[in-house]
Amino acid sequence: MPSIYVKEVHNNLFLLRVDDHITKYFEGIWKIPEGIAYNAYLLKTENGCVLFDGWKADFTEEFLNELSTITDLDNIKYVVINHAEPDHTGTLKSLLKETKYKPLVIGHPMTKSLIKALHGVEPKFRAVKDGEEMSVGEEILKFVYVPWLHWPETIVTYLEKTGVLISCDVFGGYSIPKEIFDEDPEVVRNYIPYVRKYMVNVIGHYRDFVIKGLNKLRDSGIQPKIIAPGHGLLWRKEINRIIREYSRWDIQESIKGKVTIVYTSMYGYVENAIKEAISELKKQGVNPVIHKFTDKYRSNVGDVLSDLDDSEAIIIGTATYEAGIYPIMKYILTLVKEKMKGNKPVMIITTYGWGDIAGRSLRTELEDLGFKVVSAVSIHGTLDQTSIEKIKGGISLLLKELSS
Ligand code: FEO
Repeated sequence: MPSIYVKEVHNNLFLLRVDDHITKYFEGIWKIPEGIAYNAYLLKTENGCVLFDGWKADFTEEFLNELSTITDLDNIKYVVINHAEPDHTGTLKSLLKETKYKPLVIGHPMTKSLIKALHGVEPKFRAVKDGEEMSVGEEILKFVYVPWLHWPETIVTYLEKTGVLISCDVFGGYSIPKEIFDEDPEVVRNYIPYVRKYMVNVIGHYRDFVIKGLNKLRDSGIQPKIIAPGHGLLWRKEINRIIREYSRWDIQESIKGKVTIVYTSMYGYVENAIKEAISELKKQGVNPVIHKFTDKYRSNVGDVLSDLDDSEAIIIGTATYEAGIYPIMKYILTLVKEKMKGNKPVMIITTYGWGDIAGRSLRTELEDLGFKVVSAVSIHGTLDQTSIEKIKGGISLLLKELSS
């Protein structure tokens, strides 16, 4: 049985949260041993209930059961879909079936066709305009489009009277926080890296829309007392902190002094060279984050991206494989291209047998992405003293790029 929280988080506003430990790869790509939580919300008013979003389909039975503990399903008058991705709409079809399609579904104009395509449902539907307001009982709902955070149809709903922003993917993160709210500093500290990881993995491709979205919310007069996302913690004590995290991420602000190494190694040749780089970094007082893909260990690609994203400098090590870049590194580069801005100093370390094609290709690809390649050490097979000296020289050049 999954952990479930059903709790009144503000007057007549109920959180329905389920903790998902069974999804191993979010969106089928991102490995999440930390899990993820889905948050839906129910607002009770004197003129009926409004349900905001839902859960992933794996938890449909639990969702309907828990919802029934706080309201008779017949009382649900509106279902607001802030974002149609199935981690938030997986329970929609069964909900509509249980309620005999009585609720009016509300969302962005694109949402109607998306829920038909994704779930085969054609409920009564009302498309809202950007900035439109709607009264329900004593509350006023304001709908604001936030395109590409995460899909083009994504909106947020602001409860104007109570100051709650129901924000779906925006301000959400991976993992299963021990609390509902952001009150415990340790819980927040542990959670923030998963917000970063979620942002890079899931929304990274649309990074340029983050500041636009934040500015739009501010310019729409939205100053929430509570931010209630579709994943993870609700924010009321540290609202500025989560907004700042989003802003920092948009401009890809680095963590001072953070260096991340990502390498692949088939038979230990690259690994031996990387060990020299690590040793030299440590001598210079830098403790790098290390991700590796070898015959004995494989890092989590989602974590790799997250660490690369907030590093000040990067070291990439790989080998030539079938006249190209080693396939796993090629895959990582593809994701870097999709999810990150290339504005960091990089050191490249490559090994080869009969031709250093990986080294040349890596340099070209990274420079095309905007990275600054400060050093490229190419090693013909076994590490020798000359290569060790080149690695030390490369580290020295890389560290000069760090902010003091
Ligand atoms: Fe949490 Fe874009 O779905």
